[in-house]
Amino acid sequence: MDAFQIRGGRALRGEVTISGSKNAALPIMAAALLTREPCVIRRVPNLSDVQFMGDILRSLGAKVEFSGDTVTIEARDIQEFGDYELIRKMRASVCIMGPLLARLRRARVSLPGGCVIGARPIDLHLKGLRMLGAKFNIRGGYVVGSTPALSGAEVFLGGRVGPTVLGTANIMMAATLAQGVTIIESAACEPEVVDLAKFLTSMGARIQGAGSPTLTITGMPELRGAEHDVIPDRIEAATFAIAAAVTKGSLVLKGARADHMGAILDKLREAGVSIRRQGNDLAVERSRRRLRPVDITTQPYAGFPTDVQAQMMVLMLQVPGISVITERIFESRFMHVPELCRLGAQISIEGPSAIVKGGEPLSGAPVMASDLRASAALVLAGLAAEGVTTVKRVYHLDRGYERMDEKLRAVGARIERIPE
Ligand code: UD1
Repeated sequence: MDAFQIRGGRALRGEVTISGSKNAALPIMAAALLTREPCVIRRVPNLSDVQFMGDILRSLGAKVEFSGDTVTIEARDIQEFGDYELIRKMRASVCIMGPLLARLRRARVSLPGGCVIGARPIDLHLKGLRMLGAKFNIRGGYVVGSTPALSGAEVFLGGRVGPTVLGTANIMMAATLAQGVTIIESAACEPEVVDLAKFLTSMGARIQGAGSPTLTITGMPELRGAEHDVIPDRIEAATFAIAAAVTKGSLVLKGARADHMGAILDKLREAGVSIRRQGNDLAVERSRRRLRPVDITTQPYAGFPTDVQAQMMVLMLQVPGISVITERIFESRFMHVPELCRLGAQISIEGPSAIVKGGEPLSGAPVMASDLRASAALVLAGLAAEGVTTVKRVYHLDRGYERMDEKLRAVGARIERIPE
């Protein structure tokens, strides 16, 4: 296992190129199962989760070839079950279920694992697929699904906390090959869902309403191979924007899509961080003015994303005053809080809210990464702190950030990857 050793206190300056989105790339790779023809997907980030998805597709019988940031997938002859351990390790692997049911009328998927943030059930995925005509049972740790044929239906996907992102992806993919029309109400509106719909459309699928809560999918007898460029990663872009702000630096985020980052940019500006569009890039600078505390509540898109909650908390630690950060998407998504407290942070948790008392200097300490975005927050805190911070278990980070240490070093951070 690797760790990051960070010597904090240096302002980051320069340019960072934003990678393709992990959360868009994973379901798009799974969508390649819907056709026998080859699919070429570009701007795929080189991450362990993406390699995992490649291995899962290979274990189902697909040919998967990576070359630079392009992956070619040919799922000519596939079977309905893959490697149990691989699938179990990554939660996003659940989205092979819809394509397998649509293509083979059978699917066998191990109950998913992934980041330990709350219970993370898949009941809505199964509910939607049942409405399209699939039956499920649990056997030997697998969710086993089968159907004589999928047919279009009206599916309401709103859950306890709002729409489900991968659930929407799963049902949308299954519906592209179902007989008749499927209407998904309370669909997720995330840009990653829109990107998947765009890829499916270039495969020949008929989808209307992507990006809105109502998706209408007209099933087709088959889909064809297609090429696609994955959207830039808005969560990576937000993390680097916050890195500039917490180090009192300035960064140009090459290729960041401001139109996917409305709520994030709004909160950063409200806090006093300067953000300017420069052509296709975003320039982020911590202005000389004192920052202001802001309250944040995570919500489904277009609200503030849960995947940036932990990083934003680090920024609020820099701001004198009290800010309240409320997590509404996942329970137990405050695992970064006790680790941040090791650096001297003053944060208390009250139900779904973290009360952050900012303005006290952080001092470096050994900390442990617990999930992907919590790890990113610990790295940001290390960059802002005085002294040395060692972040252990950075394999969590490698799941979702492409060469984060190298990208940070290139803009002036003192960060080294060391064996734990
Ligand atoms: C995706 C993202 C993840 C992000 C999350 C919320 C990927 C690979 N991952 O995860 O980074 O944090 O969206 O933006 O794209 N829920 C149920 N039943 C279900 C499914 C979900 O109750 O069947 C609940 C979850 O426990 C959670 C909420 O719905 O409380 C939202 O989860 P969901 O949108 O499904 O997250 P993912 O798609 O797994």
